[in-house]
Amino acid sequence: MHIGPHTFSGRFFLAPLAGVSDRPFRAICREMGAAFAYTEMVSAHGLIHGTSQTLAYLDRDPDEVPFAVQIFAAEPEVLARGAAAAVGAGAGIVDINMACPVRKVCGTGAGAALAREPSAVEAAVREVVRAAGVPVTVKIRAGWDDGSVNCVEVARAAEAGGASAVALHGRTRAQGYSGLADWSLIRAVKEAVSIPVLGSGDVWSAADALRMRRETGCDAVLVARGACGNPWIFRDLKASEAGREMPGAPTRDEWVGTVLRHVELQIAHRTRQRDGETRTAAEGHAVRELRKHLLWYTRGLKGGVHFRRDATVADTAAGVEALLERHFPPGAPFAFDPSLAAREAIAE
Ligand SMILES: Cc1cc2nc3c(=O)[nH]c(=O)nc-3n(C[C@H](O)[C@H](O)[C@H](O)COP(=O)(O)O)c2cc1C
Repeated sequence: MHIGPHTFSGRFFLAPLAGVSDRPFRAICREMGAAFAYTEMVSAHGLIHGTSQTLAYLDRDPDEVPFAVQIFAAEPEVLARGAAAAVGAGAGIVDINMACPVRKVCGTGAGAALAREPSAVEAAVREVVRAAGVPVTVKIRAGWDDGSVNCVEVARAAEAGGASAVALHGRTRAQGYSGLADWSLIRAVKEAVSIPVLGSGDVWSAADALRMRRETGCDAVLVARGACGNPWIFRDLKASEAGREMPGAPTRDEWVGTVLRHVELQIAHRTRQRDGETRTAAEGHAVRELRKHLLWYTRGLKGGVHFRRDATVADTAAGVEALLERHFPPGAPFAFDPSLAAREAIAE
């Protein structure tokens, strides 16, 4: 699987996820076997002005190559300048968000609103490709609403503008994150363009991801909510790609180890962002930032309700570890159900 000159070792990627696909979570998913991972959407305006939040979005592991930054803005020239700034900060692939359904974003003409008019898509992609000098990918939705499903035209326009790949989330903007993604549209886009197509929508398990590939012919699958609380989905997919038996749900010790590693990575991430913040303050912030992940990791687990109640006041790594030991003690029955982990990962 290739995007421009970049070759990937597998076909299962972590999707761009606002508030989720930061450096720590990308690292966890890549360690599990994700072949590639996008940053969350980053404002092109923020990239141009170098805001501190933007710098946090650009934090990456040195071995994250290519580094893929997703950008959003309404105006092609702003996207182009933002793309150039992202490349200056190390991006080897720039993705343009034409999929975000949020009113605040669409109201400015960015996100899904950008894809309402295919000719505007082509022009915007062309300008970004020229400014970036690295492969540009585009993430789109099925269309604005049921009455304007235009993903095939938009994907063709992106290709004509010079995009190196197109990712399709098979829901309309009007659907948001509800209802079902229409995978037949992923197939239709795959048949309409010759650049790689990445499929997205309703991938809750490794079996779903494999089925999406089979049913749509997409070149790669973006795992989104299905990875929240269940990065082991990538371990299964990696095993499947290698022709090995899928290891399935983690043991209690593997699970605890991953949760604690995530806590450590989050603290390190926060510490790098906040010059001058004490270690204690950085740790407290990081653990609070991680609460949504702790919720997802413990969904459906015996002991999870009590853990989550106590986790609302935890603000140190040692505190989280103590809660894990108390509520999920070694030797006690442990039945992690991957299908439950992500079900509460709702959008913004
Ligand atoms: C919490 C959350 C944040 C998201 N943030 C982004 C984003 O920043 N950029 C983007 O292109 N898509 C974003 N998405 C959409 C996902 O990448 C994906 O296309 C969508 O969730 C459909 O896949 P799923 O049904 O398997 O979750 C987000 C989705 C969720 C749930």
